[in-house]
Amino acid sequence: MIFFTLLRTIKIIIKKQNKIFMKNKILIFFILVSTILLKYNPIYLRIESEQQKAIVIGATSGIGNALTKVLLEKGYIVGATGRRINLLDDLKNNYADIFYTKQMDITKTEDAIKSFNELVQKMNGVDVVVINAGVGFVNPDLDLDKELQTIAVNVTGFVAMANVAYKYFEQRKSGHLVGVSSIAGLISNSIVPAYSASKAFEINYLNSLRAKTCKDNLPITITEILPGFVDTKMINKEEAFWVATPEEAAKQIYGAIINKKNKAYITKRWALVAWVLKFIPYSILNRFL
Ligand SMILES: NC(=O)c1ccc[n+]([C@@H]2O[C@H](COP(=O)([O-])OP(=O)(O)OC[C@H]3O[C@@H](n4cnc5c(N)ncnc54)[C@H](OP(=O)(O)O)[C@@H]3O)[C@@H](O)[C@H]2O)c1
Repeated sequence: MIFFTLLRTIKIIIKKQNKIFMKNKILIFFILVSTILLKYNPIYLRIESEQQKAIVIGATSGIGNALTKVLLEKGYIVGATGRRINLLDDLKNNYADIFYTKQMDITKTEDAIKSFNELVQKMNGVDVVVINAGVGFVNPDLDLDKELQTIAVNVTGFVAMANVAYKYFEQRKSGHLVGVSSIAGLISNSIVPAYSASKAFEINYLNSLRAKTCKDNLPITITEILPGFVDTKMINKEEAFWVATPEEAAKQIYGAIINKKNKAYITKRWALVAWVLKFIPYSILNRFL
C-alpha cells in the first residue's frame, strides 16, 4: 500500500516537473527567438512609428531612380531631384500623394540649397537624405573641362548638399545622411583621375561628418555607399565585371539605410576587393591602373 502511494506521488511529481519543464522550454524558446530577432533586426520586423520621409538628390536615372522607386514602394514619402525632372512624370502620376519633385542643378550651389530647403518645407520635414548625384568621364587625355565638371558635381555640389542636409539634421537633432561614392574612390586610376579623386573626397568627407556627430554627440547617421559596377549609362558594360542592375543596387542601398550602416559595398562582394586593395602598394598597382 505504502509502495503504491509512493509510486503515485512520484508519478505526480514527475508529471508536474514535466509541465514546468515544458513551460520553461517554451519560455526559453521565446527568449532565444526574441534575442536573435532583436540582434539581427530583420527588415520585416521594423515597425516605423510614423511614415518616413526621404529626399534623393539625383533621382532622374540609374541608381537614384531605382532607389526612389524602392522607397516609394516601401511607403516612404519621397522628394526627388535632378535637372531632367520631366523623367519623373510617370512616378508623379503613380504616387501623387507621397511624391514630390524639385528641379535642381547641384553645381549651382546657392540655388540648389534654396531648392533643397523649399523641398523640405513642402514635405514638412525629412528623415533621410541620399546624395546620389554624380558624373564620371573616361578622360585619358585629361580634357580640363571634363575634370572640372566632375569636381563641380562630385565635390562642390556634393559638399553643398551634405552641408545643407547636415545643418538641417543638426538643428532637428536627428536624421540620416547617405552619400553614394564608389569603389573608384579607394584606388587611383590613370583614365578617370578626377572621378576617382572626387569619390575619395566624398568618402573622406562623409567620414569627417561621422566624426563630427560623435564629437557633438548627435544621433545623426552617416552612411557611405560604395558601388562597384552598376548597369547605368555611366559605365561601359563590356569593360566591366560583377555588374549589378540598378534595381539590385537600390535594394541593397535600401537595406543599408534601414539598418543604419556606416558603410555598404554594392554588391557585397566588392568588400573583398576593398580589403585586398589595402595590401597592394601603388608601386605594383600603377602598372595596371
Ligand atoms: N554606375 C556605376 O557603375 C557606378 C559605380 C560607382 C558609383 N556610382 C555612383 O552612383 C551615382 C549614380 O550614378 P548612376 O550610375 O546611376 O548614373 P546616372 O544614371 O548618370 O545618374 C546620375 C544622376 O545624377 C544626377 N546629376 C548629375 N549631374 C547633376 C547635377 N549637376 N545636378 C543635379 N543632379 C545631377 C543625374 O540627374 P540629371 O542628369 O537629371 O541632373 C542623375 O539622376 C553617382 O554618384 C556615381 O558616381 C555609379
